Amino acid sequence: MTDVIVRPAVQGEMPVIRRLIREYPNLLMQSDLPRIQSYFVAEHQGRIVGCCALQIYSLRLAEIRSLAVATDFVRHGVGRSLVDACQRRAEERGIKQVMAVTSSPEFFEKNGFSTFKRERIALFFDVPQG
Ligand SMILES: CC(C)(COP(=O)(O)OP(=O)(O)OC[C@H]1O[C@@H](n2cnc3c(N)ncnc32)[C@H](O)[C@@H]1OP(=O)(O)O)[C@@H](O)C(=O)NCCC(=O)NCCS
Repeated sequence: MTDVIVRPAVQGEMPVIRRLIREYPNLLMQSDLPRIQSYFVAEHQGRIVGCCALQIYSLRLAEIRSLAVATDFVRHGVGRSLVDACQRRAEERGIKQVMAVTSSPEFFEKNGFSTFKRERIALFFDVPQG
């Protein structure tokens, strides 16, 4: 969509970001969200219609988190533009690898992500919560 711009989020936009994330309670973590400085937002005529965070853990690894596009804006390239912005930020900061934990792997594959990289796969262990 041509009149959507992607830009870094600014102070005060966390409530609108939370509202977007709340549209997907079964897909996105609702707590322990990245800080505002990690986010990009997609804006259409003054309305925030998408958000995405790049959480940087180290120069070796960053993670795409809290990627959400408003339901009436999906499939118009907004998600791709947000992930592109995160990938560019990672490149600018010299980060080696960006990961995503997602139920939409096909979407990420279209942005150059893959499950297997150089004979390596990602494995997860859920730590028991006592
Ligand atoms: C997943 C999500 C971010 C995609 O955003 P979007 O703006 O609709 O995606 P885009 O329009 O930029 O799509 C880019 C490409 O991925 C494809 N795509 C989009 N969503 C897809 C999905 N769920 N499964 C497979 N392919 C998908 C599009 O068809 C498009 O392909 P094309 O270039 O060949 O036409 C959005 O549907 C969303 O917010 N989902 C709920 C939250 C979520 O799952 N977040 C990811 C967890 S980190």
